[in-house]
Amino acid sequence: MRTEQAVPVRLADYRPPDWLVETVDLDVSLDPTSTVVRARLRLKPNPLAPAPAPVILDGDELQLRVIKLDGEPLAADAYVATPDSLTIPQPPHRAFVLETETVLDPSANTKLMGLYRSGRTYTTQCEAEGFRRITYFPDRPDVMSVFTTRIEAEKAEAPVLLANGNLIDAGDIPGSTRRFATWHDPFPKPCYLFALVGGVLGVVEDTFTTMSGRKVALKIFVEPGKEARADYAMDALKRAMRWDERAFGREYDLDIFMIVAVSHFNMGAMENKGLNVFNDKAVLASHDTATDQDFGSVETIIAHEYFHNWTGNRITCRDWFQLCLKEGLTVFRDQEFTSDVRSRPVKRIADVRALRGHQFVEDAGPLAHAVRPEVYREISNFYTSTVYEKGAEVVRMLKTLLGPERFRAGMDLYFTRHDGRAATVDEFVACFADAANYDLTQFMLWYRQAGTPEIMAQGNHDADAKTYTLEISQTVPPTPGQLVKEPMTIPIAIGFLGPDGKERQVALAHGSKLANGVLTLTKAKERFVFAGLSERPVLSLNRGFSAPVKLTANLRDGDLAFLAAHDTDPFNRWQAVQTLATALLIDNVAAHRADRPKRAADELVHALGAVLEDRGLEPAFVAQAMTLPSEGDIAREIGHDVDPDAIFAARRALRAEVGRKLAEALADTYHRMVDDDPFSPDAASAGRRALKNVCLDLLATADPTAGIARADTQYRDADNMTDRIAALATLSHHQVPERRAAFDDFYRRYEGDALVIDKWFGLQAAIPESDTLGRVKSLTAHPVFSMSNPNRVRALIGNFAQANQTQFNRRDGEGYAFHADTMLALDAINPQVAARLMTAFRSWRALEPERRGKAEAALKRVAAGPSLSRDLQDIVTRTLGTG
Ligand code: BES
Ligand code: ZN
Repeated sequence: MRTEQAVPVRLADYRPPDWLVETVDLDVSLDPTSTVVRARLRLKPNPLAPAPAPVILDGDELQLRVIKLDGEPLAADAYVATPDSLTIPQPPHRAFVLETETVLDPSANTKLMGLYRSGRTYTTQCEAEGFRRITYFPDRPDVMSVFTTRIEAEKAEAPVLLANGNLIDAGDIPGSTRRFATWHDPFPKPCYLFALVGGVLGVVEDTFTTMSGRKVALKIFVEPGKEARADYAMDALKRAMRWDERAFGREYDLDIFMIVAVSHFNMGAMENKGLNVFNDKAVLASHDTATDQDFGSVETIIAHEYFHNWTGNRITCRDWFQLCLKEGLTVFRDQEFTSDVRSRPVKRIADVRALRGHQFVEDAGPLAHAVRPEVYREISNFYTSTVYEKGAEVVRMLKTLLGPERFRAGMDLYFTRHDGRAATVDEFVACFADAANYDLTQFMLWYRQAGTPEIMAQGNHDADAKTYTLEISQTVPPTPGQLVKEPMTIPIAIGFLGPDGKERQVALAHGSKLANGVLTLTKAKERFVFAGLSERPVLSLNRGFSAPVKLTANLRDGDLAFLAAHDTDPFNRWQAVQTLATALLIDNVAAHRADRPKRAADELVHALGAVLEDRGLEPAFVAQAMTLPSEGDIAREIGHDVDPDAIFAARRALRAEVGRKLAEALADTYHRMVDDDPFSPDAASAGRRALKNVCLDLLATADPTAGIARADTQYRDADNMTDRIAALATLSHHQVPERRAAFDDFYRRYEGDALVIDKWFGLQAAIPESDTLGRVKSLTAHPVFSMSNPNRVRALIGNFAQANQTQFNRRDGEGYAFHADTMLALDAINPQVAARLMTAFRSWRALEPERRGKAEAALKRVAAGPSLSRDLQDIVTRTLGTG
């Protein structure tokens, strides 16, 4: 074996397909090791393609048994079939029917792409290029076909047989132990949206009446016995369906919508038309097995995949370079949904934390790429934070620039203009330019330029002139392959607070670039003069995080504390606290490394104390404010010569100081947040638990003896998973006998419940102590650990590499060496998951020299692996800067 050749694919090389496929009739005869797929494709020459062209179909590990053209077997010299393609060099110059029969082994499919088995269930995953692992096909999203799928299987093995669309026929096959079902999907779709499922499954059923009065059957299929755990997902689905009608005027289009939960899945979930397939982690939730965070992510993912029915399925992508067209837009839509059904400020804070924690880090390292990349070697590696989260920010900026009405008009135009088609990002943006009569030429740079823009703001108050002059400059740092950047269109929401803490209304002395409190930057440097300010105001910039940028402003001492106490924009109140904490932490990391005394946290403690005492604030917001920047946040802000041990030490010391100085208020809040009502997963109740558990952890860091006793009691008395796991997490950070006892107890309580045991693996992998690597290694030999289950791998290996900064980045390099070995082993089983987890090395260049050298050695060892997948090879060479 040798490394697969990775031919770069370029956006500039896009050509329309030579052949279209009008209809696909699939007949899939399921068998654990020898599944037979018969495909009947009605092919026709694409009127847009100039000359008669050969038919070239994609395949991947396929084995051809039969091939016919218009019913006649094809002569052996009339086609070329290999496992990864089927070519007919001289097809007729007209429409014709191509029939093929291939065989495949679902049980041997550990990549979890194409048709595979999850436990005993047959399931498929086709996005992005998995359909070619089921049958020969032009596997590209601009080929849209009407699918009819007949599935048959042993009755005992798969009484439930599902595919896209509506069920048109089903029954037993006479004289056999087999059964069949036929499904027809009237909506033409790209093959990446194809799905089928077969197995023994339980079901939860409900109905939804759409805004025009059509009744839709809703079904969620789960492992038998877990039906009750799907109730929350069903509720979330109905709320998402209603919300899309109200917010975007989008109605569901088929008579049935199905979700299937499986335990082996590379991602969270997949939006196959009418038949979403989910990682069971993203469906199953009950108070005793799922945390509030789990409930939240079930709600988000259910909504996200449902919203794809319009943004992704009815209107799909012309090619994979346009991925943000469906993913960025759909993330924006799911964020808006959550903001409306939960709390808008809290959602915004959580999203910005995630954006900075993932996307900013990606943008600052070797894997940086544009929201719409122009070249890829392996498309699976471009389902990134940049395409998703920055892609959503770009849509959000469109809304900010245009205002809600014109934004909605642009969306409406997009839905009518492109329904049933495969579109591009340019076509999407053109809808807003047309509907709003707004020039978005410069705005398009957000799709093309990688890197996080950096904004410098200098404000000066002139008491005599009663003006405030704001000078703003912007730069975009160089990124791989893009050394020089142009200035961007950047919407910056601003406000002014008077010395009394009240909002001041201002007007620009000249110019008209301030609309609804939003300044629109377009040049490398510009100056704005605001009139009517007799007293020096405090400026609140980039409110609501209106643009995904790094901002530095010349604030005076005390301004941040003032904003933390008074800003009318809740996001910037939170931001002020974070900025104070970040500055202090950066100083203290330097102090730690130089063996200098640390700076005291009095100003921060005062600000936190005020937030904690402000009964007007929702608990979820207070919990966010009380959560200090993560180790990753601090490393990112420091940016070079990073020492994870010093960061950990400074952060832990600060948490202890906050816990000590606010002990009384924290203990009081802890008790105030205890709920006597029965468990409810709603946002307000979850917010109270979040705040309670933040208090628990700060108190335990400050005073371990009392804190551990409190955590131990909470662990034992908890009547829900959120409180139990929070107590266990707090215990996990202290070397005390209670910790081992609690972990052992947890295992015994939840043995056999895979999703809960994943939490047990995950928390142990995240313990910031030098014994952890040894423990993680021994846990890889635990009877229930398996390299073929992505959830397990992410729980143990993923948490070690991503959530344990001090131990992954051990000074002796043993964390890197372990991860490299594990990724080489995993690559042979599941290359997609290996490539994803390999991104743990993406900030290696920012490390201090000793660790940097050790990380580089580990990366080079992986790069030299004997038979790397294209997925892992792509990530590792780009990370090293050699790809
Ligand atoms: N279309 C994706 C699923 C997917 C991703 C398929 C990568 C193939 C390769 C789906 O809509 C998605 O984005 N799922 C997310 C969750 C979502 C809430 C962002 C996921 O699976 O993590
Ligand atoms: Zn998606």
